[in-house]
Amino acid sequence: MTAWFDTHCHPYMAKNSVAEQVERALVAGVGEMVIVGVDLDTSEEAIEIACLYEGVYAAVGVHPNESEDLPIEAIRDLAAHPKVVAIGETGIDLYRDRVSIDKQETAFRAQIALAKETGKALIVHGRDAHPEVKRILKSEGPPDRFVMHCFLGTPDDGRDYIELGAYLSLAGPVTFTNAPELRDAVSELPLESMVVETDSPFLSPHPFRGKPNEPARVALVGEAIAHIKRVDASVVAETTTANARHLFGIEP
Ligand code: NI
Repeated sequence: MTAWFDTHCHPYMAKNSVAEQVERALVAGVGEMVIVGVDLDTSEEAIEIACLYEGVYAAVGVHPNESEDLPIEAIRDLAAHPKVVAIGETGIDLYRDRVSIDKQETAFRAQIALAKETGKALIVHGRDAHPEVKRILKSEGPPDRFVMHCFLGTPDDGRDYIELGAYLSLAGPVTFTNAPELRDAVSELPLESMVVETDSPFLSPHPFRGKPNEPARVALVGEAIAHIKRVDASVVAETTTANARHLFGIEP
């Protein structure tokens, strides 16, 4: 079976060592992962980790909740590193609105521009903010390759993003029984537009909900998609890994 590709994780935030997490992921059939920075320090850390392992890549950027400061020149310098496959995560978060929406929007627009300038993919975080995220993506013009990370929304939200050229990245919530809208979206929308992620150490899938998450558990997300779409898990692994490689511009 094709190995899984965890398109979004933050193993440096977990208590367990990064090395243990990466090794357990390999054993669990996860062949590739993108380690995502949320500010300048963690973006540097993501690159350092990526340099240690084959199949491990980095994303550099400023999370909306960290966008009080926007060291865009330093992020641009980091983006030139060959292990960097994406800019982000960036976007709008109205769930935790500790940074003003104006500052979040400024940071989001700057990182959309940086993704286009560098030719890297863009990782978009949108929480309780679909109208705002869509408005900004449309007004800037989305980059060629981008992903809605931890997609949580209705089938119509998903269709809107796919129309803009997005991949939808599914995470642990797709395994929760209390997320019927999201399961409808997975059922109705094409697998060709989907990738999988853990967002670890957050969002552990069922039956580990509430416990620290790690990249090894991304298969549980893929298996939930397979169950909802009534296809074999190997089909989900093959398609989402191919999608992830295309998203991040990685040669197979
Ligand atoms: Ni994240």
